Amino acid sequence: MALPLSPQVFAITSALIEERTGIRHEAGDRDILAEKLSQRAVERGFDSLLDYYYCLRYDAGAEAELKGLVETLVVQETYFFREREPLEALVDVVLPERLAHAERAGRKARVWSAACATGEEPLTLAMMLDARGLLDRVEIVASDLSARGLERAREGAFGGRSLRAFPEAMRAAYTSPLPGGRVAVRPDLVCRVQWENVNLVDRSAVAKVGSVDAVVLRNVLIYFGDEACRQVGASLAEALRPGGVLLIGASESLLRFGIFDCEERGGAFFYRRPAS
Ligand SMILES: C[S@@+](CC[C@H](N)C(=O)[O-])C[C@H]1O[C@@H](n2cnc3c(N)ncnc32)[C@H](O)[C@@H]1O
Repeated sequence: MALPLSPQVFAITSALIEERTGIRHEAGDRDILAEKLSQRAVERGFDSLLDYYYCLRYDAGAEAELKGLVETLVVQETYFFREREPLEALVDVVLPERLAHAERAGRKARVWSAACATGEEPLTLAMMLDARGLLDRVEIVASDLSARGLERAREGAFGGRSLRAFPEAMRAAYTSPLPGGRVAVRPDLVCRVQWENVNLVDRSAVAKVGSVDAVVLRNVLIYFGDEACRQVGASLAEALRPGGVLLIGASESLLRFGIFDCEERGGAFFYRRPAS
């Protein structure tokens, strides 16, 4: 059963969560948040959510506790070949020019799936690149806030919900069957991806990823407050090489912040820093 969460404790706790993760809880989410916080608070021996808030804010182990709490707060819904057309536009229309640019500079192109949940999105990219003979020319970085999600991604085994849009014709090339209808993705593809634990609202963590030619950040900003969207947009703009692109989800927009211009390429919308 959930511990009581007063409007005041909801306000300070949700503000703390938003500040540290970007994830916003509206007033109508109070009951859901009470349940998630209670689960974790009770496990840690608290019988009051105000005391648990103090622990998250001030205790010596606050950072580790927040990392644990995050695992109950994040929505990790994802699947292979999700919103496939924009990824194809990235690989077929945008990436060739980025590859040419990178290779003139003597390096590989770098693509970053910046909130990859359990890894289906970067592995889809790896498969698309492999199918076009481009995988050796591109470095794929994949990151998420959730350490548990990344652990599952590295294991490379996936079940039915992840496979619902996986083209039948590609399954044999990229997966092998496991018991219970699950599949293992080809281990060489899983190893090709550089998996990293990155909190996108932590500017220094984003900077550590280094420069990239393209960022894919889909179905994440919908969970963020405005300030976090602006801040993440600004950090990603810094991570992008000149001419690099950001691809966000179909229902998301960053145009209101004036950080990026948006252009249509191959039927998808890509964000670029305005030429200065
Ligand atoms: C719905 S999933 C999106 C997965 C994938 N991009 C897709 O479109 O299928 C949202 C992901 O955002 C991650 N996330 C939430 N806040 C984050 C933050 N501050 N930094 C990095 N990742 C975050 C969650 O852990 C979750 O895995």
